[in-house]
Amino acid sequence: MQQELFFKARIGLVAMGSAEPKQLRLAFGEHPPTQFNITWQTQRPVDEPVVEYGETPNLGKRVVAERIRYPYETGAIYRAYLNALKPGQRYYYRVGSRNGSYSRAYSFRTPLDRPHDFVFTAFADHGTTRHSVQNSRNVLAHNPTFHFIAGDLSYANGRQPIWDTYLEQLEVLAARIPVMVSFGNHENERIEGQRIGYIAAETRFGMPNKGQYYEFTISNARFVAFNSNERDDDAQYAWLERTLQRARADRAIRWLIVFTHHPLYGSTRRRGNNPAMIQRFQPLFDRYRVDLVIHGHDHVYERMYPMRENKAVVNSGTRYPKGAGVVYVTCGGGGVSLYDLMPEPTPWTAKREKTYCYLKVRVPVQGALRVEAYRGDNSLIEAFEIG
Ligand SMILES: [Fe+2]
Repeated sequence: MQQELFFKARIGLVAMGSAEPKQLRLAFGEHPPTQFNITWQTQRPVDEPVVEYGETPNLGKRVVAERIRYPYETGAIYRAYLNALKPGQRYYYRVGSRNGSYSRAYSFRTPLDRPHDFVFTAFADHGTTRHSVQNSRNVLAHNPTFHFIAGDLSYANGRQPIWDTYLEQLEVLAARIPVMVSFGNHENERIEGQRIGYIAAETRFGMPNKGQYYEFTISNARFVAFNSNERDDDAQYAWLERTLQRARADRAIRWLIVFTHHPLYGSTRRRGNNPAMIQRFQPLFDRYRVDLVIHGHDHVYERMYPMRENKAVVNSGTRYPKGAGVVYVTCGGGGVSLYDLMPEPTPWTAKREKTYCYLKVRVPVQGALRVEAYRGDNSLIEAFEIG
């Protein structure tokens, strides 16, 4: 009986479940100062799903959402695209439908479309533990312009309802702050041995280019995200090279920051340096003088001194000249679990600790970029500056 109901629910013969909007989340569109998208899910399909929004809590504008589907969905996913937003403006919103209930009201702020100082936050390897939830609250408290999760998001590993748990937990952050993601090995899913690939993460997060590889710009910073599982993909590699080159040729861009899941260098017991990642990407990051590379995969905090040609260019201090080398930071303590460190760090490791962690990065128009790394309990691991 239960199996039959499950089957009928799957093929949509019975309208079961709630029409209550859940899992609200914001993401930047192609042009962050004016374009946001809002995604949510209801248990059963609804009529005329909408976002109501406006510059005051009275809302006043509405945009109809579209249903986004994938073969293993666990409900009805809706996404609305808000265009022509005002830069640097706070917007209030709620989501709902004609025949279902409405969400509570939230608000968000669009970034300015001119040079300005701003803060973003990041971590990777998130999961659904109490540490995961705490870490979402941690970064929210810094009110960043956006938050980035550098892969290994829900750890659904094929069990699609885990995505629902994950995204319900993420709402506390993602309904208020745009959350951008890149994909880790755990986004490449299998169901009962059958490879379904990235389709769940691609569908559930409304990233540019489905989240595989994309760029966005805030102020004078260019952010570049790519999928390090697909390290050998030549189209992605060609795009990455073009994108880094174009960023460095653009006089309006001062900071070039890369997000990807797998680190090049590291010293956890589970794995040390990643020769394949180094061989493929170190020459590119050096050539285009990437300022900062943020990744996860190793569930620790580990940060290298500025590096050039696989060596640290300095071996002390916490303030580095801009352009001296690429600074690699692993913040894989997003919440799911922690790894043990090897007894010895790499020759280039500036700081490492087995701890839950997040990064707060202040990106300035002038002066030094400042990275603060915090533990899950909000105590400071370290701070360093580039510039
Ligand atoms: Fe990973």
